[in-house]
Amino acid sequence: MAAPRGAPGGHVGARAGAGAGAEELEAGAGALEAVFPRDPALFADAFPEESRYRLCGRDLRIAQHHGARLGVAAPVWEAALALCGYFEEQRLDFRGKSVIELGAGTGIVGIVAALLGGDVTITDLPVALEQIRENVQRNVPATLAPQPRVRALSWGLDHGAFPRGYDVVLGADIVYLPETFPLLLRTLRHLCGPRSVALLAAKMRREHGAGLFFETLLPQHFRTELVRRDAEQDINVYRVTCWPRAEPGPELGPGLPQPAAGLGTVPTVTEALAGDSGVSARAGGVYGASREPP
Ligand SMILES: C[S@@+](CC[C@H](N)C(=O)[O-])C[C@H]1O[C@@H](n2cnc3c(N)ncnc32)[C@H](O)[C@@H]1O
Repeated sequence: MAAPRGAPGGHVGARAGAGAGAEELEAGAGALEAVFPRDPALFADAFPEESRYRLCGRDLRIAQHHGARLGVAAPVWEAALALCGYFEEQRLDFRGKSVIELGAGTGIVGIVAALLGGDVTITDLPVALEQIRENVQRNVPATLAPQPRVRALSWGLDHGAFPRGYDVVLGADIVYLPETFPLLLRTLRHLCGPRSVALLAAKMRREHGAGLFFETLLPQHFRTELVRRDAEQDINVYRVTCWPRAEPGPELGPGLPQPAAGLGTVPTVTEALAGDSGVSARAGGVYGASREPP
């Protein structure tokens, strides 16, 4: 399956991210290909690519418009595939659930959630919406109800236009810019109600603050459990719920992991950014529960 490697801090270059197993189809290189038949991507600022995935029993064709305009929003990132893998492993059922995806990029995660029955709103910065709409059109049958909505949501700015208390909030590889962490937290605090479950998948780039976010900042506001870890790819999936958890969250499927019995400790900011590998040691643990939540 195609997915870019490395950090999303810069723009993703030509095909650098194609991984094993994906059946790639070149699409739309058209006239340019006739002039530069070997690799039009070397000469073009932007090039489209279509990748195929089989996720949760569905075949998907995902367009990715690589180039300076979309930047990191263009590709399908590994964390998105990991999150869909988690849906599959846990046999999550989104029927009857209101779902919102943040920083959707291609929209692949929200599309899968919609195909699994969710009433889904897929969001990102305005520049990415056209690509997401294209992928919704390609992959969601017109007969599916409810149809996913695609809307602009810039973290910390427009969340007020969205209702509070979604059943499920989804995000894949949206934790990589420390300056956006307060904005993202504000948005999560708006969207998550007492019964919400957020599922956040992250490539654990500690140099970009992923450890700090999930082990220190997020637990100050939410109960944060590590529910899946791919050590080889260094990708974690966190289940995030509101403090205090007076009532159980919505049932998402038969196999949804229950909170672990052991409580983790909160690492210091220095430890988190210094690459302390506490996450793997605490897989299945709860972060920030060693003191009363705010
Ligand atoms: C690394 S990409 C991940 C895309 C997709 N979730 C995936 O995993 O394939 C990060 C995404 O976050 C979005 N993003 C970055 N900053 C944002 C902000 N301030 N508000 C909303 N979205 C943002 C980007 O546009 C991009 O789509």
